Amino acid sequence: MSSIDYSEKIPNNVNLSEDKTLQRALEHWQPNYLNWWNDLGPEGSQGFDVYLRTAISVDPQGWAQFGHVKMPDYRWGIFLNPKEEGRQVNFGEHKGEAAWQDVPGEHRANLRRIIVTQGDTEPASVEQQRHLGLTAPSQYDLRNLFQVNVEEGRHLWAMVYLLHKYFGRDGREEADALLQRNSGDADNPRILGAFNEKTPDWLSFYMFTYFTDRDGKFQLCALAESGFDPLARTTKFMLTEEAHHMFVGESGVSRVIARTCEVMNQLKTDDPAKIRAAGVIDLPTIQRYLNFHFSVTIDLFGADESSNAAIFYNSGLKGRFEETKRDDDHQLHGQSYRVLGVEKSGDGGRLVEREVPLLNALNEVLRDDYIKDSIGGVNRWNKVIEKAGIPLRLVAPHKAFNRKIGSLAGANVTPDGRVVSGAEWAARQDEWLPSAADRAFVASLMGRVVEPGKFANWIAPPVMGINRQPVDFEYVRFN
Ligand SMILES: [Fe+2]
Ligand SMILES: [Fe+2]
Repeated sequence: MSSIDYSEKIPNNVNLSEDKTLQRALEHWQPNYLNWWNDLGPEGSQGFDVYLRTAISVDPQGWAQFGHVKMPDYRWGIFLNPKEEGRQVNFGEHKGEAAWQDVPGEHRANLRRIIVTQGDTEPASVEQQRHLGLTAPSQYDLRNLFQVNVEEGRHLWAMVYLLHKYFGRDGREEADALLQRNSGDADNPRILGAFNEKTPDWLSFYMFTYFTDRDGKFQLCALAESGFDPLARTTKFMLTEEAHHMFVGESGVSRVIARTCEVMNQLKTDDPAKIRAAGVIDLPTIQRYLNFHFSVTIDLFGADESSNAAIFYNSGLKGRFEETKRDDDHQLHGQSYRVLGVEKSGDGGRLVEREVPLLNALNEVLRDDYIKDSIGGVNRWNKVIEKAGIPLRLVAPHKAFNRKIGSLAGANVTPDGRVVSGAEWAARQDEWLPSAADRAFVASLMGRVVEPGKFANWIAPPVMGINRQPVDFEYVRFN
């Protein structure tokens, strides 16, 4: 039952045709989804034929097919990983019970909230990225943007399926609301802060797909542990697609760095003004973008102390990253975890650690796992700089830098972890975060490159094409 039925309106491996009520409800939602895609999806792209991968099975050996398709005709479908016989709830107070095939009544509201919060991020990123196609640095990059966009659309479908199938009328209402909230909308914004920020240029896009799609990975990994089996199976398959999104980000930033280093060596300079004059992005600007995206993204994990996190874990709804690989009792009572706060003194203050119950610190645990993982890519970017013989190194900012959520919210902490006065923060924040001038400079470089195999001046070509196609393949036919 792992192949997907493409003869149906909605491709699926969940026997949708056997549940007529559900099928009708989803077929009713489908035109609203397509209207949303046409209104708020990639701008001006409706007529393009794009070389896209489409999920055709959940078989790890060959789950996708590649070919040119018009995006409004993309086959967004519903795919769940196969059921594991005998799977159990692996953590919390229900540990050892059979995994739930239906929503346990007592956890219904929390489960719906988890699914809606995850679902809300998926169309949000499509909205955030909708203008980027107009300034793509190459066909290859344009194709990657669209690939990410259609798959985020599919992730929305995945969550909407769960809402429709398991939550009745309020599930259908939530599914409609997912198309009504919009990123950055003053009256009806997306649920989470980072998903209301603009993604105004391609450096932001690569940083977003590296850092923020990686938040997606960690959230999905935590939900893949869920005792609610349909959620676990859905998110496991979503993770298959997520890997490419993070690749787009990591390789994108890496190519920007490679091109900058090449120009620095040609001009034998590290003067940002001269580097900018040559039409590439200086490394300090890349560092400021990194600082911004890292700090905004780690806020997405929520407050460092959270009774909701404890409830979600205790009730078996949301596990830790790699829960079942961990060697502990998976109930976590009586254990503690260190979280960070600021002790104010005079005009500044200092960072202090305190012990809190581990169950209440599970957002922080997931954030720390995320931080470890995301630093890996920063080290790989530094290899590119090192290979070019340039001494500067990029660094992930301190966890307390530029935080808006939790006990570090509003603390004035520098990227290297010093608590400073509000006045110093205000005076120096342009050294640490992209300034209006930085953003204007990066925006000034953006311009569409449409010829196959050609790349904008500010970015190096990729090492390889997509799906073993050459780099100068016609990834997008503009028609
Ligand atoms: Fe996603
Ligand atoms: Fe993603």
